[in-house]
Amino acid sequence: MVFREHKDWPMPSIQSQLFAFYGQNVSSTQGAEWQRHRKITSSAFNESTFREAWNETIARVKAIDFEGESERSLGRIRSTFDLLAMQVLVNVGFGQDMGLTTVPPGHRESLMDSLGFILKHIMLTIIFNSLKAPDYMLPDKLRKLKISVAELRMYMEEAVLRHMQANKETAENLQKKSLLGAMVKANEAEKKQLQKSTKRPSYLTESELYGNIFVFNLAGYETTASSMTFALSYLAAYPETQDWIFEELQMHYAESENVSYDAVYPKLVRCLSVMYETLRLATPAPMLIRSPTEPSELPIITKDGPKSITVTPGIVVGGHFYGGHLSSRWGPSADLFGPKRFVSQSASGDEALVIPEGPVYSPWLLGTRNCPGKKFSQVEFVALIAQILSEWRIEVATAGQSTQAAREKLLYMLLNDKYFNISTHLLNPEAVGVRFVRR
Ligand code: HEM
Repeated sequence: MVFREHKDWPMPSIQSQLFAFYGQNVSSTQGAEWQRHRKITSSAFNESTFREAWNETIARVKAIDFEGESERSLGRIRSTFDLLAMQVLVNVGFGQDMGLTTVPPGHRESLMDSLGFILKHIMLTIIFNSLKAPDYMLPDKLRKLKISVAELRMYMEEAVLRHMQANKETAENLQKKSLLGAMVKANEAEKKQLQKSTKRPSYLTESELYGNIFVFNLAGYETTASSMTFALSYLAAYPETQDWIFEELQMHYAESENVSYDAVYPKLVRCLSVMYETLRLATPAPMLIRSPTEPSELPIITKDGPKSITVTPGIVVGGHFYGGHLSSRWGPSADLFGPKRFVSQSASGDEALVIPEGPVYSPWLLGTRNCPGKKFSQVEFVALIAQILSEWRIEVATAGQSTQAAREKLLYMLLNDKYFNISTHLLNPEAVGVRFVRR
């Protein structure tokens, strides 16, 4: 009820406004304003941008040097996936023509540098934005942050302008392929439509476009990198699951010359089930909060049976999603990694993804205000798993211990030793690791 009815139970504005410093956006708004943002931003997530995400992820994974070291800590794996998630988002988000690491004339740093610095220091950025101090009073890190914040704004302004000014042919190409392009296209169509009517503006202003591009990067970066890191770690501990995935890849990916999104992605049900299972055990959004707009009755279960309590505006209710994801309703193996629980097989052997009935499962949230980047994140995740497992077997790094002891330590830490800060992290990611062995 609380998380499905976002009109009556919005996110408290003190939280939703935190990330609106480039402009209001789909995450910071409520009611009719939210609908206006959601309509335009949803158009960014379409088959063309998914295709780009697929190709871009495969190309980026192929460029990673997994052979470089024999064993890698999970801290190292996380940094690798942080970079990968950012590269994919920037490329697909802004459009392929955007140089990622070059510093174009008129700029002081590259797009990746400025976005990367802001995303890595997001809490500092929020605090810093309310600080009005002259440059000479700022320590080096804050001066660097100030440059990055200004640079990113300039990159976003240029990108929006480029998409709006492109001639028809280039525009079509640009707009098809990037989240920003698709958003600008939908926005321009909305403006034209509006000229014919007297309705109130339903398109986004330029600062709102910046607000939304930024929030896509913010919402899509850590969530993805966190899921990928946990998935790879679980797979290392479960070699038999890797064999099961590899069977699917041999049928549809490794043997296939054409690993196109359209032909191959829908067939990789087992790879997708790894994402569902990873998000069950280690969702990057385990705690979401809401507060009612009016005094509201909230049904609760107590040891004496069902009751209801009145929640008034200003009181914050938190949803603890790990609770639902690890409840005994998942059966005796609730704590164990088992992606097969998400796969059903028809009599003819065809496999499909299913969500078991009974327990709560909502890593992307349920209802109309669910995650608009859900399929984007799925395509990216499946491309990563498919590309890595088609070439590599992943093993638990033993670091002098027995394989059994190293595996138990890893599994214990994955389940118990994590904390939440924007996304899910291991408390001690340097204490465990994995090894890549070529198939
Ligand atoms: C594993 C990957 C992901 C997970 C688990 C995830 C999960 C979520 C959840 C739980 C919410 C609701 C948050 C709340 O209301 O408090 C959300 C919202 C959102 N997500 Fe995702 N997300 C993922 C990836 C992405 C990606 C890749 C993008 C964009 C490229 C994205 C864009 C957004 C946006 C814009 C919102 C705000 C939507 C609104 O308020 O209407 N997410 N996501």
